[in-house]
Amino acid sequence: MAAEGMSMRRSQSAATVPSLLMETFQSLLAKKLSDALANAGLPDAGELAQATDPRFGDYQTNAALVLAKQRDENPRDLAEKIVARLDVGDLCEPPVVAGVGFINFTLRTGAMAEKTVEVLRDERLGVAEERSTRRIVIDFGSPNVAKPMHVGHIRSTVVGDALARIAAFLGHEVVRDNHIGDWGTQFGMVIYGWKNLLDQQALQRNPLAEIVRVYKETNERANSNPQVREACRQELVKLQAGDKENTDIWNECVAFSMQDFEHVYKLLDVHYDLQCGESFYHARLPGVVERLLKSGIAEISEGAVVVFFRDNPELADKPLIIRKRDGGFNYATTDLATVDYRVNDLKADAIWYVVGAPQILHFKQIFEIARREGYAADLRHITFGSILGEDRKLMKTRSGENVPLRDLLDEACKRARKIIEEKNPHLSEDDKIDIAEKIGIGAVKYADLSQYRMTDYVFSWEKMLSLHGNTAPYLQNAYVRVRSIFRKAGESAVATPLWGVKEETGHRPVATELTLNDSAEINLAKRLCQFAEIVPQVLNDFRPNILANYLFELANSFHTFYEACPVLKSDEPARSSRLALCVLTGRVLYRGLDLLGIKVPEKM
Ligand code: ARG
Repeated sequence: MAAEGMSMRRSQSAATVPSLLMETFQSLLAKKLSDALANAGLPDAGELAQATDPRFGDYQTNAALVLAKQRDENPRDLAEKIVARLDVGDLCEPPVVAGVGFINFTLRTGAMAEKTVEVLRDERLGVAEERSTRRIVIDFGSPNVAKPMHVGHIRSTVVGDALARIAAFLGHEVVRDNHIGDWGTQFGMVIYGWKNLLDQQALQRNPLAEIVRVYKETNERANSNPQVREACRQELVKLQAGDKENTDIWNECVAFSMQDFEHVYKLLDVHYDLQCGESFYHARLPGVVERLLKSGIAEISEGAVVVFFRDNPELADKPLIIRKRDGGFNYATTDLATVDYRVNDLKADAIWYVVGAPQILHFKQIFEIARREGYAADLRHITFGSILGEDRKLMKTRSGENVPLRDLLDEACKRARKIIEEKNPHLSEDDKIDIAEKIGIGAVKYADLSQYRMTDYVFSWEKMLSLHGNTAPYLQNAYVRVRSIFRKAGESAVATPLWGVKEETGHRPVATELTLNDSAEINLAKRLCQFAEIVPQVLNDFRPNILANYLFELANSFHTFYEACPVLKSDEPARSSRLALCVLTGRVLYRGLDLLGIKVPEKM
């Protein structure tokens, strides 16, 4: 079924995706390098990458270094031998051997101008679909019922969503699955609290807050009072046995929580294909345990069913219980059932879990069991660091609680609103609301996505909402600037050939040929051509920050260009050429931010 679904989607897109044939500079040079190596009787080796420092040109390869090491030869001599066979005159200046044996490539301006026109013509901005696409289930967000979503959920939700968008754009078949925690032991307490402590009026006013309150209070009582603890356990047993009253209460709690989640997802513009919560797997759990016992992967130990990892040094002293002595199943059992469902029912080739670092051990155990059971899917745990308050400790409210995500996003919009009031007080009320939301939500998302996911970062309103620096408002402002150029230019600028009008700007490309003279123009064109090289890189190590930082550099290049090169006031052919660079900048910013889940306003 998977293969069918995929080939269908493939042939559909083939008609609308001309860029399948389009090559980036990186891929072109990599091929030429490969040819030169073959020509010199050498195997493929090393990498061809964008140069990290512009002094070394635009691209660089370490091929000679890698080969020299393998063959115990002089790297510079090998590099010279390769360079002598490189046939890259159509793309670059003659390549240069540098340092200990790197080979540096500097693009020719003419080649850049041609490539820029190609990118401009392409609906996908040069980004090719992956050659082998997969069905990928992405498990992200996954909040728990009867608790409000809080700051801790930002990273999973925002990073997971960006990865989903990027994977889908690259042609993968993505299934976004919200693995909601709707079936844990907390429900014994929630139900006990509901029956004994609920304030109906408070529930009317703010359902989730009231559910959280009764849950917390029950939790406290249960901690000090064994009778309450036992009563909660009974409620849970009744729920799991299908008791009608408890099931009704549970349903109501889930529905109230979902309303809170939906509100946040709407604000964040995050959408799921599936929301199979933990409860979805409930009926499958006995089967999982049976299967693992039968295959000998699990065994009975002190009345519980346990998986031991005796031959795995890392996990040798970390057995995993999959059925407790009292017969109850747990989080791990559910995740084992989830793997089975995703692989066998959803036909996933890969499952990506975007879940915080505290669950590293859990997923190691789950993945190891899946491996022993022979599941062929590629399972990845994509972890991330924490969000800290300005005091550099885990971000909390003043009273020490988790900051509800809903409040945080509302505040983001409020603060963005203030900025707009100052910057552009004459906007209409509707515009102000719309723009404040785009800027506020964009700022929160971008603050997260622009960091390497493993680093902890300090949540700072000032920093993330600044119009200067590596922030969403700065990038959005660059886009707005492009738009305003075209508003000023009016019709004349959008007259010439129609190369696919796109939603990115609505502008038609305006030149068939580019003349690049000023260094600021050349730099901008080069960056624009590199978008197609950057997007696929994000998935190598699941790092949306690579794309974020690229967009920041692009906005910087555009800014420099805008300062140095008059657009509307210059003469032809520079005028059309520069307008084309503006169109393309707008489209790449729009598309790039969209891949990060960030919207752009038309003005701000
Ligand atoms: N609900 C869990 C939590 O908040 C995250 C679930 C992650 N996904 C999974 N398949 N275990 O910690």
